[in-house]
Amino acid sequence: MIYGFPHTKQYWGMNNWISILLLFLTLDVFAQNTIVLRPDSRDITISKEIYGHFSEHLGTCIYGGIYVGEDSDIPNINGYRKDVVEAFKELKVPVLRWPGGCFADTYHWKDGIGPKEDRPSIVNVFWGGVTEDNSFGTHEFLDFCELIGTEPYLSINVGTGTVQEAVEWVEYVTSSNQSPMTELRKKNGRERPWDVKYWGIGNENWGCGGDMAPGYYVDIFRNYSSYIRGKDFQKVICGPSGGDTAWTKKILTGLKGKDHLAQGLSLHYYTLPTGKWSKKGPSIDFEEDMWFATLRNTMLVEGYIKEHLAVMDEYDPEGKIKLIVDEWGTWYDKLPGTKDGFLQQQNTVRDAVAAGINLNIFNNHADRISMANIAQIVNVLQSVILTKGKDMVKTPTYHVFKMYNVHQGARLIPMDIETEDYSFNGESIPALTASASERDGVTNITITNADPNRPKVIDCKLDKDFTTVSGKIVTGKKMTDHNDYGKEEKVTISDLKIGEVANGKLKMQIPPHSVVLVQLQ
Ligand code: AHR
Repeated sequence: MIYGFPHTKQYWGMNNWISILLLFLTLDVFAQNTIVLRPDSRDITISKEIYGHFSEHLGTCIYGGIYVGEDSDIPNINGYRKDVVEAFKELKVPVLRWPGGCFADTYHWKDGIGPKEDRPSIVNVFWGGVTEDNSFGTHEFLDFCELIGTEPYLSINVGTGTVQEAVEWVEYVTSSNQSPMTELRKKNGRERPWDVKYWGIGNENWGCGGDMAPGYYVDIFRNYSSYIRGKDFQKVICGPSGGDTAWTKKILTGLKGKDHLAQGLSLHYYTLPTGKWSKKGPSIDFEEDMWFATLRNTMLVEGYIKEHLAVMDEYDPEGKIKLIVDEWGTWYDKLPGTKDGFLQQQNTVRDAVAAGINLNIFNNHADRISMANIAQIVNVLQSVILTKGKDMVKTPTYHVFKMYNVHQGARLIPMDIETEDYSFNGESIPALTASASERDGVTNITITNADPNRPKVIDCKLDKDFTTVSGKIVTGKKMTDHNDYGKEEKVTISDLKIGEVANGKLKMQIPPHSVVLVQLQ
């Protein structure tokens, strides 16, 4: 329209000003994105376990993904895939949950010990009805945790198990006293006990873990927990799905006066693009509508966390019970041609951004969130590793976890953030999320840009003066980019040039659909 102005001197001037204004608007020059790092008197550590993972006897997570057996022609260490072991060591996996999930409430641990040829084969009723030969059991899991240097987190069967069975498992695993269970462990080749601190008592007991009412479950939890004893044990009570505060209130009411029985309350939240289990949306070959919906739905977790923390503050004002988000991640339709119940999906730049958003949210609530476990570690849902036969790929989510490792065990730096919206089809979400921490004299800020089309300029006011700044980025050319077997990685960690830092201020530009790490010293 401006080109239609009459060519007089006066109008030429106005024409130019309007052009310049429009150009500036397009370039986001007036964008109001700010991050202010707040010095804080409280000393909050980001628990390294926030970077935890989850492994279930589901699809090819355990068999094929982690464990191939000693006789496999896939290179292995005592049956564990060598490539996967190396990738997990590099990732610094802090904690690993096992054996489920829904599978846990059907799992009888004694099926998975002793000579492999004597172990019974069972049907995995939740996941594809496949045969479970129990060749990967307690020893295999706990030895694997030692091999990759991770803390084990065991899920106890309260659905089809008994208190006696649970007590014996705890004794078998952790006791150094003389008892029938410790003798059995020694007979099976393990002299000293393992160090297991985290015990989940049931899983999704409002659903696959027995379809229980909260009052019934909390009594069962109390019963189990009073016999599951050990120094420094962290026992986790089954909490809600997403925003179900009604469940949480009933559970915490039932724990009144007995809150020493639980140290953690679990919350599960999965990101489904459509929000519908019947048709969730594809993991690759999606358009911007699914990109937007996925990131919008993943951001809902912050509201659920806040609602739950408010309930927990009311019932447990001293904050003795921590929030544990022990299942989270994206959940899409299974990849075409894969088995029902195996939950196999690809992982793109969208998953990288979703992971960055969730991890920023968890970091910012590190005063009360002590653990989080992405579902699941290999070949199932939002995995960091995918395997096919001898091949393995590190997914975009892997690279985000690796880049965010700087936050493990670091001191949280609280921040105020103002962000533009990212709008699509009349709906809006915040374009940016961020979190910050300090460790060994380095301040690390991680930032996500959900906008797939436009970069964001951020003015950052820092909590002190720094002299150097550097950056790293996880992104791809397209929002659907992913890493594929036998091909060069399209989505990985690269260096990013971040402007200049001076007088406690930093101006930076965050590219579209990206996850960024800014390091200041
Ligand atoms: O992670 C897949 C399944 O999702 C788990 O087994 C269950 O706990 C949840 O519903």
